[in-house]
Amino acid sequence: MKYLSEVHAADLMEQAKVASLYTYSPYSHFAVGAALLTKDGKVYTGANLENASYGLTICAERTAIGHARAAGAGPIVAIAVWSAGESLSPCGACRQFILEFGRDIVVVFKDRGQNIQKTAGELLPFAFDESDLI
Ligand code: THU
Repeated sequence: MKYLSEVHAADLMEQAKVASLYTYSPYSHFAVGAALLTKDGKVYTGANLENASYGLTICAERTAIGHARAAGAGPIVAIAVWSAGESLSPCGACRQFILEFGRDIVVVFKDRGQNIQKTAGELLPFAFDESDLI
């Protein structure tokens, strides 16, 4: 099973939408939510958290991963990211961050109103990883 069924992806996306309610985005006013699915079927959510020192902002995807890890979650199978617009794909930093936890993690995101699924490896080919560390 490389990707989720369309129904399952849509369900995870709905949970990401709910998670966006917990955004802290007083600077951009751009709410983003993420919902992460683990191998044992649990879901952990996150929302973007901004800071007056703008560069310290944490995206919804990274918040969700921190949430899952802090709760002792098992391996990550998929992560959905939601914003109100027609399209939003994870930023480069989040692609790198997600890939750290598995090249095969399925990333669900919106492209022109449609749910798209790509693996972390597909979203970030030639990624820097532990094999590059000497
Ligand atoms: N943002 C995310 O949370 N995830 C992404 O993949 C792209 C951008 C957030 C960061 C910032 O709070 C706001 O969207 C505007 O860039």
